[in-house]
Amino acid sequence: MAKAAGQRQVWFVHGCRNGEFHAFRSEVNLLAAQHPNINVHYAYSKPSMADQGNYHSEGRVDGALLQRLVNVPADYFLCGSPPFMESLIAELKQFGINEASIHFESFNKALPTVKAVEANSDAAFPGAKVEFSDSSNSSTWSGEDPELSLLSLAEAEGLMPPCACRAGVCGTCATKLLAGKVNYINEPSAAVEPGEALICIARPASAQVKLKL
Ligand code: FES
Repeated sequence: MAKAAGQRQVWFVHGCRNGEFHAFRSEVNLLAAQHPNINVHYAYSKPSMADQGNYHSEGRVDGALLQRLVNVPADYFLCGSPPFMESLIAELKQFGINEASIHFESFNKALPTVKAVEANSDAAFPGAKVEFSDSSNSSTWSGEDPELSLLSLAEAEGLMPPCACRAGVCGTCATKLLAGKVNYINEPSAAVEPGEALICIARPASAQVKLKL
């Protein structure tokens, strides 16, 4: 959210996967209808046919989008996961936004203990081969860093899967799991459809994992 100094204009910018994962849409729409100075922008990373007319841009919320929308001196109030905050703050600074004008609150969940993960019958699988079907890329999840997510592994291979919160909250990173099993570094908040995985908090739980990426 950004508030333009002296003009009392407010931009409320919300990013998520699509309408299925869009929290508080009707409440925000109602507030915007009651207050003409509130400008709403919804960015969907994977809109569905049913979302036509309900969102404003396709892709993730980034510094370029905020600059295009706000384009006047403003204060920025950001909320999301720590990695999302870090990248957005860095991008806003690149656009010359003063640090004092950037306010943020990050959300995250506590990680389970190693013991709890080991007790899970689908425990993480060091040495697992991870295939990315669309790009014909593959990699190995070594297990050296037990908190390395499949999203980070894919990014290390040069892929850019859609993501936002990177904490299992928004559902943006949901990806088809074509083969193998995964487990989660922490319990997801977002709904996960059968046959999909939230790769921002997932890691291999079988010798081979194949993702539609
Ligand atoms: S990026 Fe939000 S759930 Fe994965």
